[in-house]
Amino acid sequence: MNKEGLRKLTYGVYIINTINSGCIVNTLTQVTSDRVIVAINKENYTNQMIKKHKKFNATVLTQNTDMKVIQTFGFTSSKDTDKYENFNTEIDNSGIKYIKDHMASLIECEIENEIDLDTHTIFIAKVINTKNLSDEEVMTYDYYHKVKNGVTPPKAPTYEKSKIGYRCPICGYVYEGDTLPDDYICPICGAPASIFEKIE
Ligand SMILES: Cc1cc2nc3c(=O)[nH]c(=O)nc-3n(C[C@H](O)[C@H](O)[C@H](O)COP(=O)(O)O)c2cc1C
Repeated sequence: MNKEGLRKLTYGVYIINTINSGCIVNTLTQVTSDRVIVAINKENYTNQMIKKHKKFNATVLTQNTDMKVIQTFGFTSSKDTDKYENFNTEIDNSGIKYIKDHMASLIECEIENEIDLDTHTIFIAKVINTKNLSDEEVMTYDYYHKVKNGVTPPKAPTYEKSKIGYRCPICGYVYEGDTLPDDYICPICGAPASIFEKIE
């Protein structure tokens, strides 16, 4: 299938926070006046935690969000790290932590339903409260790629495999080219060239 047409879809960038877990997503969408949906990979710890606790909050990233936030929440797992420990956090009305600095808003949600899509679960959630956190410009997915030079990890629904290059096994970053320099360091997670995998 030619997937080129899908690249023209637009998205924002968000953190989905639940109890003891949180991850970056681009798939959060408002679908009715008080409902949102989000697609979360079943291998992400946040998926299990949402299923368990039946609630989450979402924060909307701004263009000023530190890339450290995206590295932590988009490229590591809450299963073995406390992702919140190095950031200023607040707690919402449902007892869920969130990062407040350089976020545009907070959206608190309760799970109403879910749909199984093999690799991902679509959570359908009722919005129970929202709060404005700043008036900074929101970060679009396009801005994340073009201005922040961000990459998309394998578990994101929009991930696409490159044909020629080397992939970082830690964060999924792809170096495009025939030869990977020996002293190359992954620009996202700092992994050395020696562990990059050639894309066949
Ligand atoms: C820009 C960007 C967009 C992403 N979008 C999604 C998404 O929509 N759904 C998803 O399941 N994972 C998405 N991810 C990947 C998760 O954030 C990532 O797998 C994370 O490490 C999961 O953490 P957890 O195991 O603590 O839940 C995205 C990552 C980035 C950087």
